[in-house]
Formats: sequence, C-alpha cells, structure tokens
Amino acid sequence: NKAQTKFTIVQRREIADNIVEITVKAPMVAKSAKAGQFVRVLPTAKGELIPLTLADWDAKHGTITLAIQGVGVSSLLMNKMQPGESLEGIAGPLGLPSHLHKYDPKTETVVFCAGGLGLPPVYPIAREHLRLGNHVTLIAGYRTQSALFWIGEGERVDALKAEFGDQLNVVYCTNDGTFGEKGFVTTPLQRWLDADKKVGDRHIAEVIAIGPPLMMRAVSELTQKYAVPTVVSLNSIMVDATGMCGACMVPVNIDGKMVRKHACIDGPELDAHTIDWDKFLPRFNQFKVQEAESRSKHGL
Ligand code: FES
Repeated sequence: NKAQTKFTIVQRREIADNIVEITVKAPMVAKSAKAGQFVRVLPTAKGELIPLTLADWDAKHGTITLAIQGVGVSSLLMNKMQPGESLEGIAGPLGLPSHLHKYDPKTETVVFCAGGLGLPPVYPIAREHLRLGNHVTLIAGYRTQSALFWIGEGERVDALKAEFGDQLNVVYCTNDGTFGEKGFVTTPLQRWLDADKKVGDRHIAEVIAIGPPLMMRAVSELTQKYAVPTVVSLNSIMVDATGMCGACMVPVNIDGKMVRKHACIDGPELDAHTIDWDKFLPRFNQFKVQEAESRSKHGL
C-alpha cells in the first residue's frame, strides 16, 4: 500500500566532494534485492526520476543504501535531504541481477574496475562473488586523494578485506598519483593482461567495469584485444529507467547484426565487447548537455 510506505532517510553522510551516501527505509526492496540491480527514485513530488544502483541493503532492518553524485536537478535536491526526511517514491529492485559464474579461487580471479562512483555499484557484486567463493581483484580508481571514499577502518572496502582475507586483493590508483598507483584503472589492468593475463598466479577469468562511460570503453577495448570476457554496467546513462525515454538505448552487435538494447530493461549489465562504442558515446554526451540545461533552468 503506497500510502503507508514512507521512504524515510535514516542515515546520511558525505563520503566525498559532491557525493552523498544515504540509507533509506525501503523494506520491500531490501527483501528482494540482488547484486547488480537498481531502483528508481522520485526524491520529491515535483522532481524527476533518478535510477540509482543499489550500493547495499539490509533485509533485517528494511533499509537500502544509495550513493548519489549531485549532477542533475533531482540528484542535487536529493543530496541536500537530511535524516528524518522522506523520499517521495522508490520503485524496485529493477534490472537483471548480475550473472555470477563460479571460478577456481586458486587459479582464477575476477577483476573489478571501479572508477569513481563506479565503486558503490561494484561493491555488492564483488561481495557476491566473494560469498560464492571466487577470488576477487578490485581496482579502485579515483581522480585524486580527496575524492577517495569507502577506504579506511570500518569502511566498506576494508570491511570486505577483513571478512574475506586473501580472497580479496585491492589495488588503488589515482589519476594524479596522490594515492596508490598513478594512473587509471586500465594501468594495472594493462600490466596484468601483458603478463599472460594473470594477476600474480591467477588467470583473469572475467572483468567487470563500472564507472564513467569513457573508462568503461577504455577497459572494453583493452580486454577485447586479449579476449577476456568483460561486462559493463550502464546505470549511469539511464534517465527514467522505464523503457520509455530511449536515453539508455545501446547499439549492440550480435553475430554481425546491429540491435538496440535498453540498459534499463536488458541490463544494466551488458557484454562490453558487443557494444558499438563509437555510436553509443556521442549519444551519451548529448544527454549530458540536456541535463546541464535543465540544471541551469532550476538555478542549480
Ligand atoms: Fe529511459 Fe531506459 S532509461 S528507456
């Protein structure tokens, strides 16, 4: 019953510049959420819908956790909301859950490339692989040291390390070298692919990349050369996530035939090597321009 549902914010904290993490009451979503899925949020009655990947959930307490970067009108409004306030609506979980394969943790590793705000959507998927018994290598890439989040005692990445020990290998990099290795997520990845597609003794079984579209493209092009299966999650390109607006249309090449997929219905995860990135990325930028126009209209 919608009238009874109150999506109250129970926790809020700024995890990095312009990025806020909130924990919200949404018991029905928390009960059935699976790694890789997202929700559609209506922050206020007058706002616009925003699709957000589930960063975490807690079925027992009936809460979900979301990480929001203030980019559009709705996300900027949502970033300002405080504990005790309620979101107008949350629909979900939506999208297809991640496909999880079981690998041999002694000889194989699943490599995650998380760029910036890609880390929150990566986190539950990586955790699911760890729970399945897979070995995980996580490359957490940030712009610079001040943009770091979820690192340090009690934070999510460190909590995963504490829980899973050697089963998880985390490598940090920043574009400017102020923390971890200097470079992009593709810097260590390239090195491992060159080293016989191995991280240490383990063969790279699969790569999962989530982050800015240009980063996902760079990872995809790199792994394609080495024929390493790669998945990207295209949550960041969705607008209404209803299958209606067409914003998330992705040109995909299947057996030499071009077909269009909707990230919000057929994804958010798609096989990176089937995407026609040349056709896809310019469309993405076009929506960015519209978003900026809408923002300035609202004086944000
Ligand atoms: Fe609008 Fe998928 S986000 S159709």
